[in-house]
Amino acid sequence: MNPAEGAGSLSAAVQAGLEGTGLASLSAGVRRLMDAYRSGEVPAAPVLTSAREVAAYAAYRMPATAAATGAAFAQMRRGLPGWTPATVLDFGAGTGGASWAVADQLPDAAGLTLLEQSGEAIRLGQAILAESTSGALRGAAWRRWRLELSDAAERAAVQDSADLAVAAYVLGELTERQQDRLTELVTGAAPAVLLLEPGTPAGHRRILAARARLLAAGYDVVAPCPHQLGCPLEVPGDWCHFAARLQRSATHRRVKGADLPYEDEKFSYVAAARPGVGSPDCPAGRVVRRPGQRKNLVTLDLCDRDGRATKLAVGKSKGEAYRRARKTSWGDRWDDAATG
Ligand SMILES: C[S@@+](CC[C@H](N)C(=O)[O-])C[C@H]1O[C@@H](n2cnc3c(N)ncnc32)[C@H](O)[C@@H]1O
Repeated sequence: MNPAEGAGSLSAAVQAGLEGTGLASLSAGVRRLMDAYRSGEVPAAPVLTSAREVAAYAAYRMPATAAATGAAFAQMRRGLPGWTPATVLDFGAGTGGASWAVADQLPDAAGLTLLEQSGEAIRLGQAILAESTSGALRGAAWRRWRLELSDAAERAAVQDSADLAVAAYVLGELTERQQDRLTELVTGAAPAVLLLEPGTPAGHRRILAARARLLAAGYDVVAPCPHQLGCPLEVPGDWCHFAARLQRSATHRRVKGADLPYEDEKFSYVAAARPGVGSPDCPAGRVVRRPGQRKNLVTLDLCDRDGRATKLAVGKSKGEAYRRARKTSWGDRWDDAATG
């Protein structure tokens, strides 16, 4: 068996949650969701409503959003040594992919609250989280929640209620006014915030708009940017995004009609924290493209501390820096010590 499908894995939990759901129904649901997401339009009506669509989401999107969230959260924690959130609030939780990924790295998490508008997503998400080996995931609180544009009670309900607020792959389903409102709620909810979107130009633009709001609210960007300045990748034809590799389960492959045993989920993200959270450790740069590897030479595309997009060539003559560069991946930090 693929180790990613073993007991306690997200794949195994999704499989258990989907028991009794036929492959034909799942595949039809996947086709409908793929059309909805590919259009890039803000959906006129909620996407995850029927049991069929929610099951399809869990089968083919949840593992990918969880992988992306896990990768972004790991970088966020690298940027905030000493910070371990105990409570997490997950906005637009869907079937719980982001919470699963975060809890995976927080064995001592004390409380997870998942906010979701779709009753069917909550039902399946609860079944999936019940399969987890994490007590925090099994004991997570789910709340029915739909974003309102001006509801003081909604704001009060989430205000300062967690150590970390997450919204993964939600902004893209909202109008611009709703996106601003969600960012406002998320910033009020926790001193540390993680937002993710698909790794497309449009997803990156939404992340940049949210980043500007976070900075205006007094947060410091922790990752991916090694600075608080304008984005050097906000230029035509470019955008800041990363990739998380995940193993596809047999069901995942079948419903997607895919042959490869893995896929690379592209994502854009911003992680930010109020001053005083952890001890921020800003790298010299962030690797913003897949590194180029040639004989005796590694080239790194970096977003650097001065807010510039730069290229760094590290030849074998650089010794330790070269060895580090060879082990460096897209999305990793590039630290001063490594420049040799
Ligand atoms: C693409 S799914 C992401 C789910 C989950 N965060 C993940 O990473 O897998 C988008 C989620 O946003 C929720 N959503 C969309 N519009 C919403 C709104 N107006 N109010 C509350 N939730 C909303 C949907 O119900 C859905 O669960």
